[in-house]
Amino acid sequence: MDSVTSTAESKKAADIATARETISITDNRTGKSYEIPITHGTIRAMDLRQIEVDANDFGMMSYDPAFNNTASCISRVSYIDGDKGILRYRGYPIEELAEKSTYLETAYLLLNGALPTETQLKDWTWHVSHHTFVHESIKKFLDGFHYDAHPMGMMISTIAALSTFYHDAKDILNPESRQKQTLRLIGKMPTIAAFAYRHTLGMPFVYPDNDLSYPGNFLNMLFRTTEARYRPNPTLERALDVLFILHADHEQNCSANVIRGVGSSHVDPYSAAAIAALYGPLHGGANEEVVRMLHEIGSVQKVPEFIKRVKAGEVKLMGFGHRIYKNYDPRARIIKRVAYEVFELMGKNPLLEIALECERIALEDEYFVKRKLYPNVDFYTGLIYQSMGFPMTMFPVLFAMPRTSGWLSQWQEMLLDPEQKIARPRQIYLGHDTRSYIPMEKRS
Ligand code: ACO
Repeated sequence: MDSVTSTAESKKAADIATARETISITDNRTGKSYEIPITHGTIRAMDLRQIEVDANDFGMMSYDPAFNNTASCISRVSYIDGDKGILRYRGYPIEELAEKSTYLETAYLLLNGALPTETQLKDWTWHVSHHTFVHESIKKFLDGFHYDAHPMGMMISTIAALSTFYHDAKDILNPESRQKQTLRLIGKMPTIAAFAYRHTLGMPFVYPDNDLSYPGNFLNMLFRTTEARYRPNPTLERALDVLFILHADHEQNCSANVIRGVGSSHVDPYSAAAIAALYGPLHGGANEEVVRMLHEIGSVQKVPEFIKRVKAGEVKLMGFGHRIYKNYDPRARIIKRVAYEVFELMGKNPLLEIALECERIALEDEYFVKRKLYPNVDFYTGLIYQSMGFPMTMFPVLFAMPRTSGWLSQWQEMLLDPEQKIARPRQIYLGHDTRSYIPMEKRS
């Protein structure tokens, strides 16, 4: 660096250091100027309200459909740098957690903000595994579903129904009650998911085995048949645990926003409906759609033709694109590795070649490059789940189960944030002004 550049740069740095953390806005309608504070690179939308044409004016609002550029909360749970492809839970890189942690430990981290000590982890694991049983009545209403009911439909209704069993769940401002519902939800999600799956097959429900790990017990409740004691395959057990870690939280995604929004009315966490948001094909339902799409493409040779249709706007390349990631989703990278470990054991999924060809073309094609569309978490998960023996309809369930710890962390953070109130956005009303009621005989 020459001395002229270095002087200029230090002057710029000094200017920034002495600059006021404010922004000045001049309203050209009135000529008035306003100085608005900037905190964490953000202005408060309520500071815009003072900008008004006259005393009768409501004041300026910001308009941001789909929250493209609006922070709705301050959070310390997970962090994403979408341009660099970084994801951290409570500061820990997702790659390290996927390599060294377990889902239950990660869930504890998300909920409590710190990794547990050995005793804390033992205690936490004991408590979760002692909340895995569901009330026998739950089996009765699961039985009421049609054999081909989508397991997410069964999950959504059964989770909501849990609120009818646990009246103490309404006491959302009581930390002990919150902890109890947290244990219940994390403990019971795999049981309900497995029961929904077994119902579809017409097979008897398998009760939890508390001596198995969290993913091991889930595999037990799904796949056990006549054996006295189910022994999960360690490769599949670990693969599932890693997938659970990767799906545990993802800052203010659609379903996290739902649990914060619905939870802000102080309803119990079972009724907070985040799982319903996750079911949509643009969110957690995408993993199912990816495999359907790969089946529809049918062969590697047909990929270019399909990509043409994507570029023409006829269809989407499911499992690609993300609101925040404008780089490779770091979870997709780990998932690709896990996929090969599972394929080694179970045999390669025949759809893999089609998926790889879609990715190869998309990463080079101008349409995708220009829009920064990369594979997201859902692109490869379906292939793994399919190789593990899960039917496609179970894929979103496998996403919802581990996301429960993230939802509960977001819910708790929202409840404890003194700035949060009932979520209630504004609107810009462009409908009719007052009209007089028209009697039926005068309507055309
Ligand atoms: N295939 C083709 N084009 C796409 C795709 C895709 N998968 N995703 C985005 N684009 C295009 C859009 O058409 C748009 O093009 P344009 O600028 O010419 O209009 C541009 O890329 C920007 O996309 P938006 O829809 O504005 O991006 P947004 O942030 O609103 O949507 C989303 C993100 C919903 C994930 C979108 O990329 C998508 O629908 N992807 C497929 C579904 C999917 O995989 N969902 C899982 C997401 S990860 C998760 O929730 C777990």
